[in-house]
Amino acid sequence: MANVIIRPDWYLPESAVTPEAVYRNRRQFLKTLGMGAGLGGGLLAGDATAAATAKENLKLYPGKRNAKYNPNFRTTPQQWATGFNNFYEFSTDKFQVQRMVGAFRTEPWPVTIGGLCKKPFKMDAQDMVAKFGIEERVHRLRCVEGWGMILPWSGFSLRRLLELAEPTKEARYVKFTTAMIPRQMPGIARLPQYPWPYTEGLRIAEAMHDLTFVATGMYGKPLLKQNGAPIRLVVPWKYGYKSIKSIVKIEFVRKQPKTLWNTLSAVEYPFESNVDPAKPHPRWSQASEEMKGMNGLRVRTLKYNGYRDVAGLYRR
Ligand code: MTE
Repeated sequence: MANVIIRPDWYLPESAVTPEAVYRNRRQFLKTLGMGAGLGGGLLAGDATAAATAKENLKLYPGKRNAKYNPNFRTTPQQWATGFNNFYEFSTDKFQVQRMVGAFRTEPWPVTIGGLCKKPFKMDAQDMVAKFGIEERVHRLRCVEGWGMILPWSGFSLRRLLELAEPTKEARYVKFTTAMIPRQMPGIARLPQYPWPYTEGLRIAEAMHDLTFVATGMYGKPLLKQNGAPIRLVVPWKYGYKSIKSIVKIEFVRKQPKTLWNTLSAVEYPFESNVDPAKPHPRWSQASEEMKGMNGLRVRTLKYNGYRDVAGLYRR
């Protein structure tokens, strides 16, 4: 930790702040209402339909910046966000993930939403984009390993998707599952002791919180495969492993679901996993983080990763 300056709070130098004018020139939000795909009527896309919808959806990016989640921070250089990835289904070497995703097919991409709900359904990821439209939000991502990024995501609130299914009162948790296609995901076979597929979960109130986001894009374009194309979760106040990638299944469940990291080590990766500088990981401190792509800048980690709005979820 030599040559490391720890600044108070969530400090960023002047040079790390993007001039506001850059954002003002952003494309206006396209009218997406009325473009939505229907629900439940056998409208699952085939290969050609998904490709056509994906092409049409390109016009929607980057989406209007949501003023509430626009902190005017300079975002992490894109080459870091797309070239330094945690996606164990492909590789445990963060710099190699981008080179291992070539065979991964993300179109068509049917997602099943079911479990304890009145209206389970299946919908292609591209139809979700067409139906919900997209907005852009800048969020911090804090990996449990002690580094952070500031990322401009495109997508929509998870709540909008979940509400369509009308969860029943018995539903207390939401479980998420990543695709498991070993032929296309070479990392799976290299970690046979892992409880694949990758799974994650949230309490229903956490899943319905406005901050919980389904990302379909990044840096104004659809997600790259290494970042979890075509849809992933972004839960900015929790450690990055809760932000599960390439989701194929969403289920409403009664009991706290088993998750991959929690099954591997419940002490190191608790189910709740809210960012908390006061709670060290058993093998390292969580008091500060290195901002990737910012010349070794280290900042103090904030409780809930700075998203204090969520504190109400945890008053017991
Ligand atoms: N989702 C899946 N399916 N597999 C993974 O290995 N890694 C998680 C999370 N989602 C992971 C995943 C971790 S540890 C982090 S920090 C983030 O993805 C990293 O997202 P990024 O590569 O887009 O920065």
